[in-house]
Amino acid sequence: EIVMGESVHTVAGTPKARRPGCPFDPPAELAEARRHGPISRFTHDYGRPGWLVTGFDLVRSVLADPRFSARKDLLAIGDFTVPAAPPGEFLLTDEPEHGRYRKRLQGRFTVRRMRLLTARIEEITTGCLDEMERTGPPADLVTAFAKPIPTIVICELLGVPYADRGRFQEQVDAFMGGAATDEEVFAAYTATQHYLDELVAAKRAHPTDDILSELTTGDLTDEELRGMSLLLLAAGLDTTANMLSLGTYALLEHPAQLAALRADPERGVEELLRYLTVAKTFMRTALEDVELGGQMIEAGTTVALSYHMADHDPERFHAPGTLDVARRDGGHLAFGHGVHQCLGQQLARVEMRVAFTALFDRFPTLRVAGPAGLRPETADVYGMTSLPVAWTP
Ligand code: HEM
Repeated sequence: EIVMGESVHTVAGTPKARRPGCPFDPPAELAEARRHGPISRFTHDYGRPGWLVTGFDLVRSVLADPRFSARKDLLAIGDFTVPAAPPGEFLLTDEPEHGRYRKRLQGRFTVRRMRLLTARIEEITTGCLDEMERTGPPADLVTAFAKPIPTIVICELLGVPYADRGRFQEQVDAFMGGAATDEEVFAAYTATQHYLDELVAAKRAHPTDDILSELTTGDLTDEELRGMSLLLLAAGLDTTANMLSLGTYALLEHPAQLAALRADPERGVEELLRYLTVAKTFMRTALEDVELGGQMIEAGTTVALSYHMADHDPERFHAPGTLDVARRDGGHLAFGHGVHQCLGQQLARVEMRVAFTALFDRFPTLRVAGPAGLRPETADVYGMTSLPVAWTP
């Protein structure tokens, strides 16, 4: 039992790095915070004081609690106000706005819909593997495999015509972290917005069989359709791509677990999701005073929730730092929990099962063939910038 007001551990901002040689373990600062309890004081990266939650049960309870808001314009992280999310970008909104958008998409992301997509995802994966085989070994797994698969899948869902794919993929990649400068990121983001506006107009004029065409038949404005499309890109590409690259790296470093995943891809993918939790931190802001884990969170205070630490909580998982496909204590927060729980999770699961299975079927001798390029801990989504691989032809 923690006594209210007792001094608690403080974490000063997002840690900069993980421990050298431990690319999969949460940073030492967060593990240290967890040893002091499931909730710590936290200085947000832009200077405002707040809280950091690292315990599994406590993170989940915040996500299930309507007294905590996901609204972007309520974020209290620095000495400035944050603009509201653009129309349609419902990840950073609350009810009823959030549900109004989410429910339009839900029917497109059911388990059944995703099973129907499986054959197409297999074809896309085969195409990438053929190209790797034609030009390698070696290959960079990030550019040859991890990025193109989810990008082509989203292009098909949104109905991006085949002829536009190359340009579209480059733009999206640039604004999602591929570009070198802020100016380039902004230019690529603007270009993607323009492209989506054109695409919305084209679907209104000539609907085809895709999400965007279906949405144009409702009462949503062009701006809302653009926002929803941008959210699907922002939420669905980088996350899946980094699960594929970092997941492959983790499997190559743990051969027994690779064998276990190949024997049971469903459980293997769930354990990789837990172990890696690449979408590692999200924020919520208290709408009123809330008592949380023995601390008083004042109205208007922003709480950082570490999904990664929650998925490595020793009170929830036996030996959480061990990748263990056979573990029985499943269930994880890699897709979040509550009203914002990942809309694309069934799609992501199918993509990962298909992609890992096909990759190791094609290249049973796959190995890491150079230094792995890891993202810094400060990136929103953890993962890889490059992964050189080779195989015996
Ligand atoms: C939300 C993770 C793939 C679409 C989320 C959230 C997480 C997450 C943690 C909740 C954020 C929060 O609590 O505030 C992941 C991971 C993925 C993945 C790890 C890959 C392995 C996808 C894909 C799509 C997608 C493929 C769609 C094509 C969305 C959307 C939301 C969301 C639209 C917002 C849901 C809402 O606010 O109601 N995702 N995601 N995600 N995800 Fe995913």
